[in-house]
Amino acid sequence: MSLLEVKNLSVDFDTHDGVVRAVNELNFSVDAGQTLGIVGESGSGKSQSVFSIMGLLAKNGHARGSVKFDGNEILNLPEKELNHIRAEQIAMIFQDPMTSLNPYMKVEKQLMEVLIKHKGSSKEEAYAQSLQMLDAVKIPEAKKRMNMYPHEFSGGMRQRLMIAMSLLCRPKLLIADEPTTALDVTVQAQILQLMHELKNDFNTAIILITHDLGVVAGLCDNVMVMYAGQTMEYGSVENIFYEPAHPYTTSLLKSIPKLTENIEILETIPGNPPNILNLPIGCPFEERCYAAMTECKLSRPDLVNFENSRQRACYFEKVRYE
Ligand SMILES: Nc1ncnc2c1ncn2[C@@H]1O[C@H](COP(=O)(O)OP(=O)(O)OP(=O)(O)O)[C@@H](O)[C@H]1O
Ligand SMILES: [Mg+2]
Repeated sequence: MSLLEVKNLSVDFDTHDGVVRAVNELNFSVDAGQTLGIVGESGSGKSQSVFSIMGLLAKNGHARGSVKFDGNEILNLPEKELNHIRAEQIAMIFQDPMTSLNPYMKVEKQLMEVLIKHKGSSKEEAYAQSLQMLDAVKIPEAKKRMNMYPHEFSGGMRQRLMIAMSLLCRPKLLIADEPTTALDVTVQAQILQLMHELKNDFNTAIILITHDLGVVAGLCDNVMVMYAGQTMEYGSVENIFYEPAHPYTTSLLKSIPKLTENIEILETIPGNPPNILNLPIGCPFEERCYAAMTECKLSRPDLVNFENSRQRACYFEKVRYE
């Protein structure tokens, strides 16, 4: 049994123009200590799929399917039960650290409160563990920083602080939604390295959401490529990078800067993702796909298993990435 097992997860939103399906029948699982990357362009449904798991959908959103965490169904649980799970078992970090930090409270108090409230720690224990966690996320002069406010931290340090706070209760699963997008490249690399170390030290399972395939390479074991709310391809990070099986994956790979090549202009995928209110009957990527054939317009390819534990939704025979 995996730590997290997601089956046929769909998310619909009621809108003025009708019901939109933002997430369509996702299936994936994450084991302890494993990292799953979810990639795809803006609007592909990455955030809403994890928001539904965390019970964080907007009021007009409805989730269907099954999400089992440690063997227990957690999809659409009442708020009270979800609060326990969210604080103690599953933690989430966001692109903007201030969504989870209180600007008016000293770091020391914010961190200690988590442990006192959820773990019943004494003040002394809570202080010691908070300090230790700031060290673990490599915040220099941790003792001094404990006595500061979050706004006195730089962007990268704030991100570390949020990671420290989310790891305090030793969650089994950490969900990171674009955790480094707002940071400059050097700091981004440091935060990703940090997450890598934390995964090894604490055996935390991680779901890492990013629109940038380059980011998943160093950190992820498996990758799910999403488009228009659906899984286009799922496989190990090696498969995805070296033998992508979907033209959309190939196109995403071509838009990653390569260190070995001195090219200034990267290939971008022509066109834009479709409007999910009005999806074509065929493959949603067909219009932008270099390999599109007549049948791609006529019906949507099913997501099928191939080799061991790979999946893809495409009619094209062979996709190779040069
Ligand atoms: N409350 C809502 N009502 C209606 N549609 C919504 C709502 N919230 C999200 N959506 C739609 O759901 C789709 C998926 O959104 P989602 O936030 O999951 O995208 P994403 O892949 O995380 O994109 P990004 O990379 O920009 O963060 C989008 O088309 C979005 O407009
Ligand atoms: Mg998002």
